[in-house]
Amino acid sequence: MKVVAITGASAGIGLACAKAIAARGDAAVLSARRSDRLDAEVAAIRAAGGQALAVTGDVTSEADMATLVARTVERFGRLDVMIANAGIGYHDTLEATPPDVMRCLVDVNLMGTLYAARAAALQFAQQQSGHLIVVSSIVGRRGIAGSSVYSATKAAQAGLVESLRAEWHGTPLRASAVYPISTATEFHDAIRRDYGFTVQGRGPRQTADSVAQAVVRCIDAPKPEVYPYRRARALAVLNSLAPGLADRLVTRFGRRRTP
Ligand SMILES: NC(=O)c1ccc[n+]([C@@H]2O[C@H](COP(=O)([O-])OP(=O)(O)OC[C@H]3O[C@@H](n4cnc5c(N)ncnc54)[C@H](OP(=O)(O)O)[C@@H]3O)[C@@H](O)[C@H]2O)c1
Repeated sequence: MKVVAITGASAGIGLACAKAIAARGDAAVLSARRSDRLDAEVAAIRAAGGQALAVTGDVTSEADMATLVARTVERFGRLDVMIANAGIGYHDTLEATPPDVMRCLVDVNLMGTLYAARAAALQFAQQQSGHLIVVSSIVGRRGIAGSSVYSATKAAQAGLVESLRAEWHGTPLRASAVYPISTATEFHDAIRRDYGFTVQGRGPRQTADSVAQAVVRCIDAPKPEVYPYRRARALAVLNSLAPGLADRLVTRFGRRRTP
């Protein structure tokens, strides 16, 4: 049995990961801010015979991320996998993006990932084992119009994982980055709730369950990079080889913002 902590597990990709992990007999520790949701999901997993624990926390709090790891270890004796998944989106030109929104995206998507990763890394170092899985985005590999700040936070996550892979090379510790494409979750509802506008994606979409299945495969066989929608890897490769050509291609995948 693996012990897996997941940030942003009250909805979307994080919740799909928690359900998939518990369904196959691993222990899922669900963290997010909305404790009522976490409690309901943990109760449902337990009722189905799975092992789960809810730890309410905000990823922008270093103390909350330390508590997430401490409560996990207290309950299950160790932490095998940390899935740093909590994240928020936004859509606008750079000029029109207010600085407080920029700071919020950096706090949740980047600082939140760093706090969760660091809390896990401290535990992994003690255990001499552990696997960090960071849920980034395909726009962290190749930015699209209207996503400059979000893409910057997602590219920063890629840099974190690459550095950790170098730091942990030759040790039992593993780090992976997951690059989903547009996924049907509450992500766009959260943008509407927090910022009052609607964003519609263009181009292909995938389900949260398909991302969760890719994450589960990565737990079983750790990989540096996971592209749950396989063809998305080609975009990352093309962007490295011919970024100018990629500029033209990604005009197809832009998002549309409506009031
Ligand atoms: N949906 C997409 O199209 C897409 C595509 C590529 C990558 N991703 C990435 O996938 C990850 C998950 O997104 P999703 O699509 O599943 O979105 P979602 O359905 O909106 O879920 C986001 C989760 O993050 C949590 N969260 C937000 N702010 C938080 C904070 N400050 N502290 C703790 N938890 C927080 C939310 O829970 P609470 O509100 O309860 O705290 C929720 O559980 C994100 O990192 C996102 O960037 C999404």
